[in-house]
Amino acid sequence: MTKKRKKIKLKKAPFIIIIILVLSLVLIISISNKNSSSKNEITENQKNSKVKKSNEKLKELNYINEKLDYFNNDYIDRYLTYKKENPNLPIKKVIINVNIGLDYPYYENSHEAEYLNTSYLLVNKYNYLPENYIPDNLVTIDSIYSNGEKVMVDYAKDAFEKLASTAKNEGYNIYAMSTYRSYNYQVGLYNRYVSEDGKESADTYSARPGYSEHQTGLTVDVYNKEKSYTDFDKTKEYTWMQDNAHKFGFILRYPKDKVSETGYTYESWHYRYVGEEIATYIHEHNISFEEYFVRFLENKNNP
Ligand code: DAL
Ligand code: ZN
Repeated sequence: MTKKRKKIKLKKAPFIIIIILVLSLVLIISISNKNSSSKNEITENQKNSKVKKSNEKLKELNYINEKLDYFNNDYIDRYLTYKKENPNLPIKKVIINVNIGLDYPYYENSHEAEYLNTSYLLVNKYNYLPENYIPDNLVTIDSIYSNGEKVMVDYAKDAFEKLASTAKNEGYNIYAMSTYRSYNYQVGLYNRYVSEDGKESADTYSARPGYSEHQTGLTVDVYNKEKSYTDFDKTKEYTWMQDNAHKFGFILRYPKDKVSETGYTYESWHYRYVGEEIATYIHEHNISFEEYFVRFLENKNNP
């Protein structure tokens, strides 16, 4: 009996070994599967979080899109890239700056200006005037408010004379020193500055031909005939202009705190006619004409 049992046990031994081997194999396979599936889970999770993040960004952009009619669907990639490069900038400002063109270097990606012969005309380092553009209805400013013969577009000239005569009545002397400048005049002026200061420096304060707002006939550089125009902000007339220019439709075009948007260093003497409504909005909200333009004027059929 005991011998028989021993025999049976010996006969079963290979089966038991095989079963043990099979079980171990199953165990090894299942462990390795588990490992690789958890690895997959990690990469899957990373992928998901990336997708989630870019979805959130798009959602944020879309949310803004619903509220901002100046959101441009063609610029989504530019918005995302600019936001990545300027992570602290609010999305709304990202959209405004990209619409202005600030994600491109100055003078690259520039276009012929919209709204020729209107007070909406924006001319800057991204929007130029044709070489042969001469505004309609250029008329001479009353000589008691100017230094030599100066011309502006008729409605801007009327507004400037009103401004200068109101100022005079209140005891302030404001004179037009430089107004409309032709394309060719700007060629001479810009080249002179380049030869004196070098191109890089000249570009910070002088417009290249075709890119000068003076060619619009809507611009006036002022002074009080006592101090140089470059010291205009040291005069009482400058303070008067700060408080009153917008009431006559003029804005300080290149303010100290808007250099990165306008592309020009501060010019306390350079004023631009945009009309009373726009000038008052810009004055009250302390924004650049560039920002106003992309928010309220660009691509609008009837602003
Ligand atoms: N100084 C201004 C920017 C001009 O040259 O038009
Ligand atoms: Zn000027």
